[in-house]
Amino acid sequence: MDQDCTLPELIRNANYIDGVWKPSADSRYFNVTDPATGVAIGQVPDSGVVDARIAVDAAYAAFASWRKVPAKARAQIIKRWNDLVLSRTDELGELISREQGKPLAEGKGEVVYAASYIEWFGEEATRANGDVIPAAVPGRRMFAIKEPVGVVAAITPWNFPAAMIARKIAPALAAGCTVVCKPAEDTPLTSLALVALAEQAGVPRGVINIVTASRESTPEVVDAWLDDPRVRKVTFTGSTPVGKHLARRSADTLKKLSLELGGNAPFIVFEDADIEAAVEGLMVSKFRNAGQTCVCPNRVFVQAAVHDAFVNKLAERVGALKVGPFTDAMSQIGPMINERAIEKIERHVMDAVSRGAKVLVGGRRLPSIGPTYYAPTVLTKANATMTCSSEETFGPVVPITRFETEDEVIAAANDTPFGLAAYFFSQDVRRIWRVADALETGIVGVNEGALAAEAAPFGGVKDSGYGREGSVHGLDDFLHVKYVCQGQLN
Ligand code: SIN
Repeated sequence: MDQDCTLPELIRNANYIDGVWKPSADSRYFNVTDPATGVAIGQVPDSGVVDARIAVDAAYAAFASWRKVPAKARAQIIKRWNDLVLSRTDELGELISREQGKPLAEGKGEVVYAASYIEWFGEEATRANGDVIPAAVPGRRMFAIKEPVGVVAAITPWNFPAAMIARKIAPALAAGCTVVCKPAEDTPLTSLALVALAEQAGVPRGVINIVTASRESTPEVVDAWLDDPRVRKVTFTGSTPVGKHLARRSADTLKKLSLELGGNAPFIVFEDADIEAAVEGLMVSKFRNAGQTCVCPNRVFVQAAVHDAFVNKLAERVGALKVGPFTDAMSQIGPMINERAIEKIERHVMDAVSRGAKVLVGGRRLPSIGPTYYAPTVLTKANATMTCSSEETFGPVVPITRFETEDEVIAAANDTPFGLAAYFFSQDVRRIWRVADALETGIVGVNEGALAAEAAPFGGVKDSGYGREGSVHGLDDFLHVKYVCQGQLN
């Protein structure tokens, strides 16, 4: 990490296994780069199968004692972790922005967001209640007891390097599970810093183990965990093809899975919507992290009667967005994570234009700012034949389709294998419930663009995966139910 880093003692260029910061078995490293410039800002171990296995050895050994630590004591450690994370909000926020590229306000906001999950699961740790079941036979007592599933493999994405670690590791610890974690190769430094704080909070050795790996070495590490029968659960956020690979490869050892996969969120503006609120909702949901968010709207449908009014207001707002590096406090849109990401955006926009879309705002790279910046873009006349309608663009592009009827737009919104989030704006209470029921997604925003909250269940249906993060359901995903029946009591 460069000289002016404000949290040098939390910058680790090592794996954390069994309570020890160590290099990979063969001492190989890979570079972590600033997405705005491509310049290396640090190095972390390029781990392989040996590191993956010793991490599981440590997690498996630690599980025997961690599961027996009383829930209240586990909760206290988790809450200390939360306090430490919050006490470093500014520095962690800067680290997130530095390695991920998001504006500084969003980097700091992500720290608070991450901490909200740690705090929540610190509280939920003491509420893994079971059931006492009325027995049909005299002299019997029947119980359903919640138990931790065991060693959890957490595989986290680059777009929210702190929040996704928090949302996966905090519930695992709360449930009494131990963890092996592989953070995204683009953003491992934030994850390592969070684990360094967990260590300071008193998480015992072996309970959290983190192994970094380059894009090339990642399959070796992850497949070692998938094949290992001691790993009882996999929690993953990332693409649908990778999620399906994890599910297939976990089948032989029948692991429990939480898969938060790709989305293709529709955003619908009905003619009875509050147009100002709809524009605001779209700005909030679409441009968070420059559109690199799995719940951000990918397809925008606007009813004919309000189409032009909505588009004009939106174009004005989007055109005014300030694009730039996190070091400029005015920046609202940062760089894309890497060249592959910006090439995909470019491909989607070019394809849309070749099929009749009109570029109203943006539609191009911004090389004068840096190689990975893309102008916030509004496209009109989008339709279902365009690649941006069927694939997640994961960038600051808003393709708008005009529609006539509610039935037509519901059919279009559901015409995708994905089902993570959907948004719509309407002021008709009957329509609100009709449409909320009809949308085939795990999350629905009604007159609201900012949906995520630690107390709410986050997750999808169809090809967007299964399992929930946050809320009471987010703890249940790390527990299984044991039925205990005691007889001969009369
Ligand atoms: C994600 O993009 O994977 C998570 C977004 C969120 O937590 O809102």
